[in-house]
Amino acid sequence: MTSEIRILMCAPDHYDVDYVINPWMEGNVHKSSRDRAVEQWQGLFQVLKDRAIVELVKPEKGVPDMVFTANAGLVLGKEVVLSRFFHKERQGEEPFFKQWFADQGFTVHELPKDLPFEGAGDALLDREGRWLWAGYGFRSELDSHPYLAKWLDIEVLSLRLMDERFYHLDTCFCPLANGYLLYYPPAFDSYSNRLIEMRVPEAKRIPISEPDALNFACNTVNIGTVVVMNKASDELKRRLSAAGFDVVETPLTEFLKAGGAAKCLTLRTTEPVLADIHASGTVESRIVRMEGHLLDAGLINQALDLIVEGGGSFQVLNFNLGEQRQSTSSAEVKVTAPSHDVMEAIMSQLIDLGALPRMDEQCDIIWEPVIQDGVAPDDFYVSTIYPTEVRVSGEWVQVQKQRMDGAIAVDMTGNPTAACRLLRDLKVGDRVIVGVEGIRTVRKPESRDTRSQEFSFMGAGVSSERRVELVVEQIAWEMRQIRDHGGKVVVTAGPVVIHTGGGEHLSHLVREGYVQALLGGNAIAVHDMEQSMLGTSLGMDMKRGVSVRGGHRHHLKVINIVRRYGSIAKAVEAGVVTSGVMYECVKNNIPFSLAGSIRDDGPLPDTEMDLIKAQEAYSRLIEGADLILMLSSMLHSIGVGNMTPAGVKMVCVDINPAVVTKLSDRGSVESVGVVTDVGLFLSLLIQQLDRLTYPYQVA
Ligand SMILES: NC(=O)c1ccc[n+]([C@@H]2O[C@H](COP(=O)([O-])OP(=O)(O)OC[C@H]3O[C@@H](n4cnc5c(N)ncnc54)[C@H](O)[C@@H]3O)[C@@H](O)[C@H]2O)c1
Repeated sequence: MTSEIRILMCAPDHYDVDYVINPWMEGNVHKSSRDRAVEQWQGLFQVLKDRAIVELVKPEKGVPDMVFTANAGLVLGKEVVLSRFFHKERQGEEPFFKQWFADQGFTVHELPKDLPFEGAGDALLDREGRWLWAGYGFRSELDSHPYLAKWLDIEVLSLRLMDERFYHLDTCFCPLANGYLLYYPPAFDSYSNRLIEMRVPEAKRIPISEPDALNFACNTVNIGTVVVMNKASDELKRRLSAAGFDVVETPLTEFLKAGGAAKCLTLRTTEPVLADIHASGTVESRIVRMEGHLLDAGLINQALDLIVEGGGSFQVLNFNLGEQRQSTSSAEVKVTAPSHDVMEAIMSQLIDLGALPRMDEQCDIIWEPVIQDGVAPDDFYVSTIYPTEVRVSGEWVQVQKQRMDGAIAVDMTGNPTAACRLLRDLKVGDRVIVGVEGIRTVRKPESRDTRSQEFSFMGAGVSSERRVELVVEQIAWEMRQIRDHGGKVVVTAGPVVIHTGGGEHLSHLVREGYVQALLGGNAIAVHDMEQSMLGTSLGMDMKRGVSVRGGHRHHLKVINIVRRYGSIAKAVEAGVVTSGVMYECVKNNIPFSLAGSIRDDGPLPDTEMDLIKAQEAYSRLIEGADLILMLSSMLHSIGVGNMTPAGVKMVCVDINPAVVTKLSDRGSVESVGVVTDVGLFLSLLIQQLDRLTYPYQVA
């Protein structure tokens, strides 16, 4: 017997599966055998009694899980942090354990109410005493970890549990003597796995298989070189033996029915304090404010989900629900993350959702200078499509040239200004915002009412014919409004428009003043002019729908002719191109930009093969757009989508739902997708526009 080691146990006099608070209990209510449970508990007791002093706490009626003493609290030296159980079914155990600890002379620390923490089930000391591993995700809150660090004066490493079968840290993680670690990696998120790998060298990590994990092999009591557990596979025994451990198996199947085994049935009450080990914790908390139609627009759910998915935890401090349908709600949410990096990643996503720091926590941006042309500082804030403001010297400044995937550069000479800048445009000395301090995005409140208007019903997805008609009706109405108010519609189109017979309809739109700029590639222009000059598109007769003998040469002939004239405009002026989309653009002074690609034949003299210049031309033409119609070009549509700030309506038409989803899923109501044939779409659009122009002539 090792006299220094003391272990607390509780006899299973009242043990049973009385309720379901974990997946193990499902289907096992009142299915455990008391006699077998007593026998198995005695088996464990005997094994431990030979190696440690086992103390007993009196079992109490009505709290059957009291047998799992690991959840009484967390002990270090003579300090104990008492458990605050997550489920009310176990909260009745708290006073009995508190009394026992007090009777033994421990200083008992109690967490605030509503801050769950389940003791040594979720907090395991490194066996060398260097730090405390603390779990969260199911039963214990991340917010409890700073208390552990403070009261026990020890470094706390937070690990996030992901698999509800392994709801407590001690069901999937077991620090062993000599720096070894027995654990089941899939039970943790990737951040936690990284943290584990950083702290425990590979040679000391013993990852176990799922069958071993399901036999609760991690729920092990380690005393010196002995490991006591329910069951281990031969492979695991071999691995443990190679690491110098003797495996003692003692069946605990009756307790597995409640989700516990050897470790859960014990609490080590002699955990030595190391003099030179002191508190340090990386857990960070911040309070953010959210305002808007938080419920209608699903903003609060999105925010809470992304906090949890990002590896943090939250506490809603207050929530003021708007009284009327149209009034906005507000909420204050405390966000806690296990480290600064995780906090920054969560915060940058919350900022995109419009979250603001609380008034008293607002601070200015942090910037770093650019030290190499075209390269931002490591931690630069990546801009989004949403209107953004940044706080410089206490004032909120609107960011100019808002776009996605840029850096934000600030100019502090005179009145501070800020603008989105592409990486390639950064110059040495530019001041680029890093981190997430002092940044907020301005989200237009989107209520259910707003969503039900105009564009809202056209969410992405495969559209039935009737649905497409309805969508087109709305788009036609919108385009008509924009034209009548002198607004701007930009069309970006791929060659499929011409192949599907949509060329004449797009020409019509340009001629009738519905298009103020055209963006595309080499192909749409070539196919369009091929149709005008030779009646084919990539060698296909567009009237008869059949290939023309030798038609494949048409494509290059057209390119050659236009090259001879020097530009599309000159070919139009010379009377070589007499109809089509490009013809209408030239004749109606509609600016166009053709961006080159690696697929391009020729190219046409107008095709800009310098992609940086092409991007600049696109972005100039997009400026001030009210609506962008994206017609069957994944390449150009996605390129345009990335340059376009929120607030610009976008309609993406493509036969492939994935392209439509990518473009319409920008989180703003303004972008919608139509999954259909682009030729059909354009023909319906023209019909609808005609109907608006001549309402009485169309049946
Ligand atoms: N000979 C040439 O010079 C040549 C030929 C072809 C493409 N290109 C160039 O390659 C680049 C990419 O070309 P892209 O835009 O055609 O290709 P892309 O793959 O980017 O886009 C084509 C899109 O059209 C969609 N689509 C296909 N059939 C459709 C239909 N019936 N209705 C609606 N959508 C439909 C597809 O799902 C796809 O998303 C462009 O720059 C283009 O100019 C050059």
